Amino acid sequence: MSTTTITQVWTDKVLSKPHTLKSTQIRVEEQEIPVLDTSDIPLPPPSKEPSEVLSIDKGTPDSHVPRDPRLIRLTGVHPFNVEAPLTALYREGFLTSPELFYVRNHGPVPHVRDEEIPSWEISIEGLVEKPITLTFKQILQNFDQITAPITLVCAGNRRKEQNTVRKSKGFSWGPAGLSTALFTGPMMADIIKSAKPLRRARYVCMEGADKLPNGYYGTSVKLNWVMDPNRGIMLAHKMNGEDLRPDHGRPLRAVVPGQIGGRSVKWLKKLIVTEAPSDNWYHIYDNRVLPTMVTPDMSSQEPSWWRDERYAIYDLNVNSAAAFPQHKEVLDLASAGPFYTAKGYAYAGGGRRVTRVEISLDRGKSWRLANIEYAEDKYRDFEGSLYGGRVDMSWREACFCWSFWSLDIPTSDLENSDALLVRAMDEALSPQPRDMYWSVLGMMNNPWFRVTIAKENGKLLFEHPTDPTGPGGWMERVKKAGGDLTNGNWGERQEGEEIIEPEPVQDINMKKEGVNRVIDLEEFKKNSTDESPWFVVNGEVYDGTAFLEGHPGGAQSIISAAGTDASEEFLAIHSETAKKMMPDYHIGTLNKTSLEALLKGDIADDTSPTTPRDTFLTPKSWKKATLIKKTTVSWDTRIFTLGLEHADQTLGLPTGQHLMIKIPDPTAGGAIIRSYTPISETNQRGTVDILIKIYFDSPTLPGGKMTTALDKLPLNSVIECKGPTGRFEYLGNGQVLVGGKERTVQSFVMICGGTGITPVFQVLRAVMQDEQDPTTCVLLDGNRQEEDILCRIELNAFEDMDKVGKCKIVHTLTKGPENWTGRRGRIDEELIEEYAGSPNDQTMVLVCGPEAMEKASKKILLSLGWTESNLHYF
Ligand code: MTE
Repeated sequence: MSTTTITQVWTDKVLSKPHTLKSTQIRVEEQEIPVLDTSDIPLPPPSKEPSEVLSIDKGTPDSHVPRDPRLIRLTGVHPFNVEAPLTALYREGFLTSPELFYVRNHGPVPHVRDEEIPSWEISIEGLVEKPITLTFKQILQNFDQITAPITLVCAGNRRKEQNTVRKSKGFSWGPAGLSTALFTGPMMADIIKSAKPLRRARYVCMEGADKLPNGYYGTSVKLNWVMDPNRGIMLAHKMNGEDLRPDHGRPLRAVVPGQIGGRSVKWLKKLIVTEAPSDNWYHIYDNRVLPTMVTPDMSSQEPSWWRDERYAIYDLNVNSAAAFPQHKEVLDLASAGPFYTAKGYAYAGGGRRVTRVEISLDRGKSWRLANIEYAEDKYRDFEGSLYGGRVDMSWREACFCWSFWSLDIPTSDLENSDALLVRAMDEALSPQPRDMYWSVLGMMNNPWFRVTIAKENGKLLFEHPTDPTGPGGWMERVKKAGGDLTNGNWGERQEGEEIIEPEPVQDINMKKEGVNRVIDLEEFKKNSTDESPWFVVNGEVYDGTAFLEGHPGGAQSIISAAGTDASEEFLAIHSETAKKMMPDYHIGTLNKTSLEALLKGDIADDTSPTTPRDTFLTPKSWKKATLIKKTTVSWDTRIFTLGLEHADQTLGLPTGQHLMIKIPDPTAGGAIIRSYTPISETNQRGTVDILIKIYFDSPTLPGGKMTTALDKLPLNSVIECKGPTGRFEYLGNGQVLVGGKERTVQSFVMICGGTGITPVFQVLRAVMQDEQDPTTCVLLDGNRQEEDILCRIELNAFEDMDKVGKCKIVHTLTKGPENWTGRRGRIDEELIEEYAGSPNDQTMVLVCGPEAMEKASKKILLSLGWTESNLHYF
């Protein structure tokens, strides 16, 4: 055996082309190693790195990334989410060239210049004895390098099938959302060990450099998995012997074999060792299989579904697909041979081997066993180095790659069948199911892969379930023909099967049974007072008197609807639960002419005053303001300044109350209505400033309807406002009005998160600006990162001007930077107990924030002995 250097092995034996180190590459100290015979292992297919930026990418944030035009773009031009045509992917063989490797980018690709790579840093922080920052150069030079073949699979692989059954919240992947490469780099365990994790450490959170609408992309895996050599979790800087390409995480990424691709964080910047799973937005709202009965609406309205770690996906499930017959392949029976070789791929998760692949031609009544080729096993016999990394797989049994199945089928059997079904089973004896498990994100779709066979003029026509390039596939065809894709027979009606008409979408009944009183306009007007507010929804008359006290938005919310047709506003902002309460207040039906008159605006209101009004808001009618300025506070937060009717006008909003804002819905038509609390001073004239956080769309989840629409609204647009609303009002000097009842308090405990600061801020400012006001305030403000803290300058100023100790502000961050000296973590029992003091009747707790935060704090407060009457939720 002769000896040579690592670089020469690559040059001479593997690629047989001259190897030059790029300026960015760090030369691993050359060692003497034996020349190895690589003829027994599958090597990467010929690859040609694209050098041209495609014109389609030129106007996008990815204008620095050259790409292969063969890739199928699944989410339009940008972000780049692509799969190769399945046949091209399969033909590449066991390993995929980087230019055809599927890509899943949530946002823009970070632009990392060659010269920046040696000093690219990743930090290892959190629950470690020795936090460290390593440069790319150190990662290469100070740690053992390994090379291993690994298949990455996006959890959304085959999602188009789910979307055809029922639209999920994810975009449509065909069956090529997976690819395999030889990855080279250090084991993540070695990197973590160098920082010495503490005893209570349980998870490794990862964060990439791609800044997205909801923060940096990040997720976590368990620390014990990282430390387990059998799980093979690594960092990679090379793919098939080349530097990682920009789309795949250049210069450094995590690779988590056997798990969904979403855990393999690209452009890796941070490893944070923690006690709990990642609280990164993408860890929580992505890569989950929620129970099948959770609808997209439920998942948006009840965020707790997303926080249940049981629904997070880690290991891949068993799956397979046929590459041949191809979608739309035509087999001419006249020239076909006696056998047709069906071929495809299969994979399983968690290192489990695919132990069988079966084919059925008779709807699953009988199955034939396919042959399976495990190319990955060839590497187990290979000893030595490849691309600068040791191939160390002889001892490891885990299977982290796809396998290829094939079966020779008599052509006559195909001719006599209507569909070819493929299913795989793994080492845990989990077979692919026949039926789809639909879930809100459409992930982990793995029912039997079905290729239909049709006979036409002596030819067999094959069709896959879907076509990622556009319309097509048997599922769409069956659906269009009225088939129920969930009927257990792939939507095809069986002989004798009863036709079940789809259930009509049920309207919620808001009328009381037996009520048939007809009311005319005169009676309606006479009875519609602030004390007994009657209002109309969908032509029906309701008396809201009995709900004045109970309405969560305060009596004013109902009073402002008195004597009006409130349909639009009511239907836009009320939940199904609220609608179900309506029969209790239903008193009759407005007659047709009265309703027409009401809708035309025959009821006198104050919409066109003769003299200019001092205050802008009126509770019963919408007033038009103009968007005159948008100030960007941070990447997702803006101050919208609205011009009122004249320069001297004040808004007319009592401290602690809210106003409703109405704008046209740009997508669905109609209007969007939401409540906000401005941050401008109550006596500001001519304008009002409203601080709003924009919930941007993500590739998998739609953003906030109101906030994204507001963000897109051009200057000078009309924004309609109405109000005030709210049960709470601060009158000053410790006097509060709650649900119309006045009381005195000595102190406030204010608990808020994110933009929930706005109503709380109004009250705090009122207290702080009035030197005579003796009320004391403690504000507990929870945010993710330092830059998420809103109104920080003003809050600091309150503390600075406080000479008598009446104000204490505590910020806590869940993702504080290293140099953050304040509190860390969520607003929890410890924090509340420390600052809220013991429950007493002289203190009111004001809470405003995301639903989950409000719920959690309520539970804590009640358990600490606070009574509901001392808590107010804005
Ligand atoms: N890492 C970062 N930083 N940003 C991302 O958008 N996408 C994830 C994962 N890592 C993503 C990321 C998802 S969902 C998948 S499936 C894989 O990257 C895809 O890796 P690939 O694009 O190299 O195929």
